[in-house]
Amino acid sequence: MRLVLLGAPGAGKGTQAKKLIEKHSIPQISTGDILRKAVADGTPLGKEAKVIMDSGGLVSDKIVLGLVQERLKQDDCKKGYILDGFPRNTAQAEALDKILSGMGAPLTVALSVDVDKDVLMKRLTGRRTCKSCQQMYNIYFSAPKKEGVCDKCGGALFQRDDDKEETIKKRLDVYDTQTAPLFDYYGKKGILKSVKGTGSIDDIFNEVCKILGS
Ligand code: AP5
Repeated sequence: MRLVLLGAPGAGKGTQAKKLIEKHSIPQISTGDILRKAVADGTPLGKEAKVIMDSGGLVSDKIVLGLVQERLKQDDCKKGYILDGFPRNTAQAEALDKILSGMGAPLTVALSVDVDKDVLMKRLTGRRTCKSCQQMYNIYFSAPKKEGVCDKCGGALFQRDDDKEETIKKRLDVYDTQTAPLFDYYGKKGILKSVKGTGSIDDIFNEVCKILGS
């Protein structure tokens, strides 16, 4: 399975991707996670990306494409992968198609996770992530047993720098103008599918598996 997950910030792409990688033993390639690691490591790329990410804008296509192209060459992608947060605009989608056609392995499906706008703000402002194991929580919908502490590993929970109300508004605008045209792009290619992203995480996952025939 060579899958692209589409959906607005907070739609639950990362949440569903983590369940899919467990089931299928294929990697999740999240450009957001790769960029956040570069920020945390304080690399030159991370320093450049942080300013843009904190503003809610998109990091340059050149940087992101370079990261993805390198990642796709790794051995663990041979069985398939889940692209989460990439592509983000038509230029990235076209460049991805070129890379994959050069590898002789085009995308098999683009799955959109659909959630109404009014739900997204609460999902994003409430999100907390474990620093150690990356387990995700939400203080409104799936709070940890002890505030600020991961149920799974006891690690400290943190809030993403871009999960502030003003930045979220900008991210949602960027999504509408730059990412939403990808529905048309993948629709025309005949590989677009969609799932309703509200309800319990497990119910959504069951639906995802049905849609993907997995
Ligand atoms: P990125 O990290 O990709 O963020 P995003 O697309 O904004 O998506 P999120 O991670 O915020 O949401 P998600 O859909 O994964 O939801 P999640 O599962 O976490 O990008 C961040 C930034 O990096 C960008 O703004 C940009 O600057 C840069 N960037 C990244 N990729 C780029 C690219 N290709 N090009 C250029 N720049 C790029 O869930 C959210 C919350 O909801 C969690 O708390 C979760 O527990 C909860 N939740 C999930 N499902 C449910 C449910 N069913 N019910 C209740 N709560 C739920």
